[in-house]
Amino acid sequence: MFIRHEIIEKNALLLLVLTLLTVSIGGLVEIVPLFTIETTVEHVQGVRPYTPLELRGRDIYVREGCYVCHSQMIRALRDEVERYGHYSLAAESMYDHPFQWGSKRIGPDLARVGGKYSNDWHYAHLKAPRSLVPESLMPNYAFLADTPLDGRDVADRMAANRGVGVPYTDDQLAAAQADLATQSDPAADQTDLLKRYPKAVAASGDGRTPTELDALVAYLQMLGTLVNFADTSEEQLRQ
Ligand code: HEC
Repeated sequence: MFIRHEIIEKNALLLLVLTLLTVSIGGLVEIVPLFTIETTVEHVQGVRPYTPLELRGRDIYVREGCYVCHSQMIRALRDEVERYGHYSLAAESMYDHPFQWGSKRIGPDLARVGGKYSNDWHYAHLKAPRSLVPESLMPNYAFLADTPLDGRDVADRMAANRGVGVPYTDDQLAAAQADLATQSDPAADQTDLLKRYPKAVAASGDGRTPTELDALVAYLQMLGTLVNFADTSEEQLRQ
């Protein structure tokens, strides 16, 4: 056995061919079953593209590296489901480019943080986490409250997302600036925005100059809220 192995080890070409063969068997075993199922993303109601303000908030989340400490993927394990809520579905991150599943949990998972706290809680927590959670080791992000949001290119960002498959409509692209302004202003009439983007949560800023913090909170407040699990059966999820 070992003598025959020596033959392989002394013959680089043979070693290469046999290595490729072994690796491709492993690959085939993993990949072929995927072709036999119709789709790996389940069909669920409610998942929609991000509003312009949420999309900018998401960009800030990525820029600030929140994913370094926070995951956005609840695994189908009992302790996770009891702590965070229903396990994450592939459909819930299908419009994420790039996805924010993360691989580190220095802080809690954020996949279902939307609606868990009030806007005011998030503003206070992001500005000074230790004012609410004394033992927190999360950095202060107070500067986001003083940084005006640059929303000029938001329609281009949406168009770029459309280029990679996010189904933004022409109507949504045309209304990008208006929707951004509406969602940043709690006093504005949110009806049209909610028609285009159900469940969008208005920021709590002063309504005049949207800040980066307004965008980030709008994003956090919708995380995990789009799918109504009470109306979605396990069979639908398994499809
Ligand atoms: C150094 C690691 C670290 C970074 C970076 C970090 N956080 Fe946190 N975060 C934590 C820890 C630890 C907690 C738990 C204590 C607390 O609530 O402050 C937490 C808690 C939270 C919570 C409350 C979650 C809950 O369910 O109670 C939110 C929301 C949050 N972080 C958002 C963010 C956002 C947005 C960013 C990026 C701007 C960010 N975090 C960056 C460590 C981090």
